[in-house]
Amino acid sequence: MKENIALIGFMGSGKTTVGRNLAKSLDMKFIDIDKEIVKIENKSIEDIFKNEGEEYFRSLERKIIEKESKDNNIVIATGGGVIIDNHNIKKLKETSYVVYLNCDIECIYNRVKGKKHRPLLNTENVYEKIKNLYEKRRLLYEISCDFSVFIDCDTNLYDTVLKIKKNYILS
Ligand code: S3P
Repeated sequence: MKENIALIGFMGSGKTTVGRNLAKSLDMKFIDIDKEIVKIENKSIEDIFKNEGEEYFRSLERKIIEKESKDNNIVIATGGGVIIDNHNIKKLKETSYVVYLNCDIECIYNRVKGKKHRPLLNTENVYEKIKNLYEKRRLLYEISCDFSVFIDCDTNLYDTVLKIKKNYILS
């Protein structure tokens, strides 16, 4: 069994909510990579993208992943783009059991529409953007994980937490 659990998945797939509950039920610490970035930079993700650009954001993401993956007994909620960089997955896999929250696109859309804090989704046709980005990333999520769990709008949070917990303990 690996020391940590890392949650990957598209924006709105529930990484933070599932991660927080999973950490609580396993008596582990919870870390959210985006929140760490906001804390360190003292700026919102939106402002970082707007003022410093996506590349700068990705470099911070890489740095925090590198640092946090050395810790132990933690559940890590990553940002949806973490899988773009091979190095991130390699680092996470060294100490973490990587779980993909494979969330249905309709469910993602319902959760993220109208929310303004995700710079990549601040666009006219949010549904199209989600579809295109998810098509590009889907394979990366699939090949990066040790375990995946399907989620749609009817999925119960505690069932998801339990599934991950059982598979992690058996791993
Ligand atoms: C991103 C996802 C966001 C955040 C940033 C970029 C992405 O995190 O890291 O806006 O590239 O998918 P969430 O997945 O928590 O929304």
